Amino acid sequence: MSSSTSTEQQLFTIPTHQRAQVCTKFGDDSAQCLQLVHDHPVPIETSIEPNQVLVKVMAASVNPVDYKIVRGVLGRFGPQPPCVLGNDASGIVVQVGTSVTKFKVGDCVLAYKVPTKLGTYCEYTTFHENEVAKKPPLMSWTDAACTPLVSMTIWKCLQYVKDPATELKDQPVLVVGASGGTGSWGVLLLKHFYGAKVYAVCSTNNLEYVRSLGADVVIDYKTQDYSSVISENGDRLKLVIDCVGGYDVIDKSYTVLDKRGTFVTICSPKDLMGFWDICSFAWTLLWKKTLSFATHPNFYIAFANPDGAALQNIVDWAERNGQLYKLVRTHSEYELEDVPKAHTDLETHRTVGKIAIRVQKDSGGLH
Ligand SMILES: NC(=O)c1ccc[n+]([C@@H]2O[C@H](COP(=O)([O-])OP(=O)(O)OC[C@H]3O[C@@H](n4cnc5c(N)ncnc54)[C@H](OP(=O)(O)O)[C@@H]3O)[C@@H](O)[C@H]2O)c1
Repeated sequence: MSSSTSTEQQLFTIPTHQRAQVCTKFGDDSAQCLQLVHDHPVPIETSIEPNQVLVKVMAASVNPVDYKIVRGVLGRFGPQPPCVLGNDASGIVVQVGTSVTKFKVGDCVLAYKVPTKLGTYCEYTTFHENEVAKKPPLMSWTDAACTPLVSMTIWKCLQYVKDPATELKDQPVLVVGASGGTGSWGVLLLKHFYGAKVYAVCSTNNLEYVRSLGADVVIDYKTQDYSSVISENGDRLKLVIDCVGGYDVIDKSYTVLDKRGTFVTICSPKDLMGFWDICSFAWTLLWKKTLSFATHPNFYIAFANPDGAALQNIVDWAERNGQLYKLVRTHSEYELEDVPKAHTDLETHRTVGKIAIRVQKDSGGLH
């Protein structure tokens, strides 16, 4: 162990065991499946891989994939109980692997993990150093924990546009599901990063919130047909980011999508009930994808990948431009023991922005 590491360890004494929300079984009710334990082992130096950092988690956030895993949606492709869930975290690096070069003990960071390697509903967790970004000092722990997965998902969507800086500037684009965690970042990045003309779809209660994110035209899907509004304005969309899913969004969006435009969905339809539903949706995707090769709009399904360098660019940009991440509403904040309630809230599909989980209080004066 290096001398600098041992000095920092005096600041952050790492316990052998920690509090963690452990998913003990799959099921429909997170309250029945998640259990707060006090004796979950902390990964110690010998179990940290050379390219990993050990992070003291100050805050985490909840994403739909977490309750979907509890419901067994990822089946054998996801983590298996008993396991700790949670993708996003903000916290302090308290140990570094032998080949880590980008971070040192004491760095305040934010990061998210790939869905197959979850585990931020706990006090200490490891990340590959390439998944991690440094937290701007003025960004709160909860804002930082609410940022990685959703912003990086939208960033991934934007990679499907060849040259977004020139192709999207002042051009009409659409975000469906704009009041949710991912949709909020969709509006932020399209408006403030790329200067697009942003149409955004949400329900009546969230019109003002979505406008506050910077959307140019906010459409209430409860009272208006967004394809009609866009076509009455004489616009053809260059890009659609679908954060809701389903055939309806594809069909409506295609009526107002430019032939050279791009449709990116991050979702599967909510109503995949059985084998034939899945076959039918797979056929739709295959058909759209095949048409993409002709003159029709490009069609993509985006999956976020942890990318610390891209995450760093986004948080630094948001910080420089007046802490834009603060525009994303924190719907509610829970303590670690209340993660099941946070899951239940998110499962209503009616939360606005993000749900944060406060994990630890003592940051040793660092921020
Ligand atoms: N592919 C990936 O890598 C990836 C990454 C992250 C998330 N996802 C998926 O993307 C989806 C959204 O995630 P999220 O974190 O944004 O979820 P979220 O925070 O729960 O947001 C969902 C939003 O959808 C809106 N909504 C519900 N029904 C709607 C409808 N009929 N029409 C329009 N909007 C509707 C709701 O807003 P209103 O109340 O205003 O209607 C809600 O705010 C989830 O299915 C998630 O699993 C995929």
